[in-house]
Amino acid sequence: MSTGSPTPAFAAVQDLATRQAHSPIADMFSEDAERVTRFTRRAAGLHLATDKQRWTPEALKALYAWAEERNLLTWRDQLFSMTPVNITEGRAAGHTALRSNGVPAAKKAAETRARLKTLVDSARSGALLGQPVEAIVNIGVGGSGLGPKLVVNALKGPDSLPTTFAANVDGAELQEALKGLNPATTLVVLVSKTFTTLETMMNAEAVRSWFMSHLGEGALAKHCVAATAAPERAEAWGLSRDNIFPFWDWVGGRFSLWSAAGMAIPLSLGWAAFDELLQGAEVMDTHVRDTDLEDNMAVHLALLDAWNRLLGASSRAVVPYASRLAYLPGFLQQLEMESNGKGVTTKNVALEHPACPVVWGDVGTTGQHAFFQMLHQGLEKIPVEFILVANSRDGHDGHQKALLANGLAQGAALLRGKSKSKVREELKAKGYNDQEIEHLTPHMVFEGDRPSTTLILDRLTPKRLGALLALYEHKTALLGRLWGINPFDQFGVELGKQMARTLTPRLEGARDPAFDPSTEALLKVVTDMRQHERQEPA
Ligand code: F6P
Repeated sequence: MSTGSPTPAFAAVQDLATRQAHSPIADMFSEDAERVTRFTRRAAGLHLATDKQRWTPEALKALYAWAEERNLLTWRDQLFSMTPVNITEGRAAGHTALRSNGVPAAKKAAETRARLKTLVDSARSGALLGQPVEAIVNIGVGGSGLGPKLVVNALKGPDSLPTTFAANVDGAELQEALKGLNPATTLVVLVSKTFTTLETMMNAEAVRSWFMSHLGEGALAKHCVAATAAPERAEAWGLSRDNIFPFWDWVGGRFSLWSAAGMAIPLSLGWAAFDELLQGAEVMDTHVRDTDLEDNMAVHLALLDAWNRLLGASSRAVVPYASRLAYLPGFLQQLEMESNGKGVTTKNVALEHPACPVVWGDVGTTGQHAFFQMLHQGLEKIPVEFILVANSRDGHDGHQKALLANGLAQGAALLRGKSKSKVREELKAKGYNDQEIEHLTPHMVFEGDRPSTTLILDRLTPKRLGALLALYEHKTALLGRLWGINPFDQFGVELGKQMARTLTPRLEGARDPAFDPSTEALLKVVTDMRQHERQEPA
C-alpha cells in the first residue's frame, strides 16, 4: 500500500522542511524582528512561545495551506458537533460535550455530574458511609487512571482526601494503595469504560476480598462506586445501581477525565475544583472552536509537531518545571501515542512517514541531572517542551525563582550552546594548560541550535490545568486529522492482551499453545525460576 504522490500543499511543506532542516534557529531571530510575537500564542490564561523552534513564517504559511487542504477546521467543527469522526468505531468523540452546554449529549453529562455532586457531598458529610470518607482509592488503568492521578496530584491541598491509585495488574501496586487504610472509612472508585479490563477486574476482586475480610458481606455495595460505560456489567459484578455512574461510548478513555471516569478528582479535591477544571477546559474549547488557523493555539501546536516530524524528530521531551505535574508526561504518552501511534489512514492506506513521535519526559529540575546530557550533547536534536508555572503556592519563593531560572535557562542554553572558543577561554581562565585544553574542549562544546517550546501558566489552578489538558487533547485530535489517521481508536493495544490470555495457562502448566522459540525459552526460564522458588523459598 502507498499513499501515492503527496497532495500539493503537503508536498510544499515537505519541500520546505527538507530545505530548512538545518537552518540555524539563531539566524531566524536575526532575520525577523517580529519573531517573538509571531510565534507566541495566548489563550485561556496560557502563554505559548514557539520562537525557539526551527520554523519560519514561510513554514507557517505552508503549514496553514496544508491545514486548509486537510479541511482541518471543518473537521474540528464536526468534532464539536458530535459527528462520528471516530470512523472505525462509528462514534463521535464527544469529550468537549462533557464540559459544555452546547449539544444534547452535554445534558446527559450534566445529569451525571449532578448525581456525582450528591455523591461527593454525602461522602464528605458522612451520609454515605455513616462517617466521613477519609481515603479514596482509584482503581483503573490507562484513561481510567492516568488523568485523575495527574489532576489529583497537581491540585491536592490541605483539605484534600488522601487518594491512592492502583492501575497495574502487579499486586504490589494495589497492596501499596491500600496500605494503612481503614476499610470502614475508605471509598473505592472502580473506573472502567468496558468493565472487562484484566487489571481493573483483578484489582476489583482483590478489593472485594479486602472489604469482605474486614467488614463482611454487604460492605462492597456501600464502599465501592463505579464509573463505566457498561453499567449492567458493574451491577452484575455486585455494585448497587445507585453507586454506578455512567459515561458513554462517545467518550474515549484517554479523553474521559472530565466525565464520571474522573470522579476521584471531586471526591479527593472537592466539587469546586472539579467544576473549575471543567470551566478551564471549556475556555480552551471555546478558543479552539472559535479561532482561525493563525491564532489557534491547538492548531499552532499540532502544526509544530507535524513540522518537527518532517524535520526528522522522532521524539519530543515534555519537561514540566513543577513537581505537581510529575504525571503529565505519562498522561501525554497515552493521550498522544495511543491516539496517533498508527500506520494506516482513515482511507485504509499505509502512511508513508511515521506519525506520532515518542513522547517522553520527566520534571525539571531533576531531569537536568539525568537525561539533559543527551538533550544538550547527543547527536539527535530532540525538541523539548518546557512547562513553567510562574507562581507557586508551595514552599519558599526562593525555590520557585530557582525553578523558573532553571527552566528558562535550559531553553536558552539549548538554543545558544557554547562555542569552542568560549570553552577554551573558560578553561584557560581556570588555569588549564594548552594540552589539557585541546584534550577537553571537544567534550565541553555545546553545539546549541536545539529547538524548544515554552508553555507558561501564571499559576497551577484547576482552571489553568483544565485549559492545559484540553489544549493537549485538541492538539492531539487535530494532529490525527492532519496525518489522516483516526485518533480515537486503539486497536494496537489488543494483540498483546490477547496473547497474554493465551499465555497465562502456560504459566499454570499447560503445554499449549506453542509460542515462538524465543518466547518458549523465556517461558522456560520463568517457569524454572518459579519452581525453584517454591522448592527453596528466598
Ligand atoms: O488498553 C487500552 C485501553 O483500552 C485504553 O484505551 C483505556 O483507557 C484503558 O485500556 C482502560 O480501559 P477501560 O476503561 O475499559 O478499563
